[in-house]
Amino acid sequence: IPVDVFDLVIFGGTGDLARRKILPGLYRRFVAGQMTSDSRIIGAARGELSDDAFRKLVAESIDEFVPKDRRDEAMITEFLSRLHYVAIDAKGEGGWDALKNMMRDGVVRAFYFSVAPALFGDIALRLKSHGVADDAARIVVEKPFGRDLATAKALNATLAQHFHETQIYRIDHYLGKETVQNLMAVRFANILFEPLWKAEYVDHVQITVAETVSVDGRGAYYDKSGAMRDMVQNHMMQLLCLIAMEPPYHFDPDAVRDEKLKVIRALDPVPQQDIVRGQYLAGGGQGGYLEHCENPASTTESYIALKVHVSNWRWKGTPFYLRTGKRLRARASEIAITFREPPHSIFDDAKGWRENVLVIRLQPDEGMNLMVMIKEPGPGGMRLMQVPLDMSFAGVLGDEAEDIPDAYERLIMDVIRGNQTLFMRGDEVEAAWAWTDPIIEGWNATGAKPQGYDAGSSGPEDALMLMHRDGRRWREIR
Ligand code: BG6
Repeated sequence: IPVDVFDLVIFGGTGDLARRKILPGLYRRFVAGQMTSDSRIIGAARGELSDDAFRKLVAESIDEFVPKDRRDEAMITEFLSRLHYVAIDAKGEGGWDALKNMMRDGVVRAFYFSVAPALFGDIALRLKSHGVADDAARIVVEKPFGRDLATAKALNATLAQHFHETQIYRIDHYLGKETVQNLMAVRFANILFEPLWKAEYVDHVQITVAETVSVDGRGAYYDKSGAMRDMVQNHMMQLLCLIAMEPPYHFDPDAVRDEKLKVIRALDPVPQQDIVRGQYLAGGGQGGYLEHCENPASTTESYIALKVHVSNWRWKGTPFYLRTGKRLRARASEIAITFREPPHSIFDDAKGWRENVLVIRLQPDEGMNLMVMIKEPGPGGMRLMQVPLDMSFAGVLGDEAEDIPDAYERLIMDVIRGNQTLFMRGDEVEAAWAWTDPIIEGWNATGAKPQGYDAGSSGPEDALMLMHRDGRRWREIR
């Protein structure tokens, strides 16, 4: 279904995110027929460029980031004709009146801030002072949304001077992932799981986001952030919320976000003994973290594992174990819900017994796997064995799976539709920082150094202990 006619301005339109994600994504939505014929995309950045020069840049990025079998010359030409460019000075007045003159009445105006957060305030101010943004305009901002509670509050306050909360779209691209949205469908469109979705039946939850990539090339940014700020405060927090939240009364922006906020507020502080931090070592022909971050004395973590408690009626007594890291054995993100033992076994020989586990694979090979017990075949009495009820979404969806928009495509179209459900509200971001800050302050105060771990491994040894101590085990990363 095509979305409303729009003028989308991308500040930082020649930057890395625009080239890699936003513009190729818009091209794919155009091919999918979602962009009406009079919608336009306007690149805005500091350099002087003609429309044609900008179109050439975008053509190159489509070439690089859209797979060959998804490119069509006629479509690309048509798409490029919707593109325009304006040189803009974020910190001065140059270019703003020109931009204003390009805006049309009666169409959706959206402004994507694909720039450093330090510029958010300048751009927001000038969008208003030059009359570029109307009262219905939408602005889109990206992480990092602050680096602690104080900076996030300041950023929210700056944006709030010029825009209403209903106009602000804070992207967490994990919420745009198809399987992440599927978490809500699985929980709230089936009767099977929800009655068991509580401490009484769930032993523990594991949330893993394992990556194979290093931070080489972005070490300077990453070193100021680390896995806690880069992944846990945002992406993993969102996953945790979708797993732990109460059913919202409706799939509606504030109903969903209210429930997520309650989860974040119910998180206990995490004691330092429930946290393991690591840094990857050199190996496999690549340098280690300390070389990549260009700071031999860095104590920033490229891996973190932590045990988290959600203190409410539903989850009291069920720990959530979170882990994420770079340069691990495989790229694998999943959520595993491990259920408790049945209250009583009727079988004499329950040797083969294992817990039921529901695994939701987020990437790659998105799908679900439910581990269930059956009888081991054969005449040897009632022996039990665990088998998977395994479903790959690509397998069941076939060709349809190929047309699934990626996270950015989905989210940008939601901005145009005016649907904030999959975007973070200001209070949610602040609550997440309020929980994160003392954790980081805790390890800063002890001066504790992250433990080295081998590249291509499943993380530091101490992370194993975090679970072993509780009589549990991490699932293998593969
Ligand atoms: C980004 C982080 O937000 O998410 C990166 O800054 C990380 O460090 C990336 O690699 C992971 O996203 P995805 O979609 O590849 O899982």
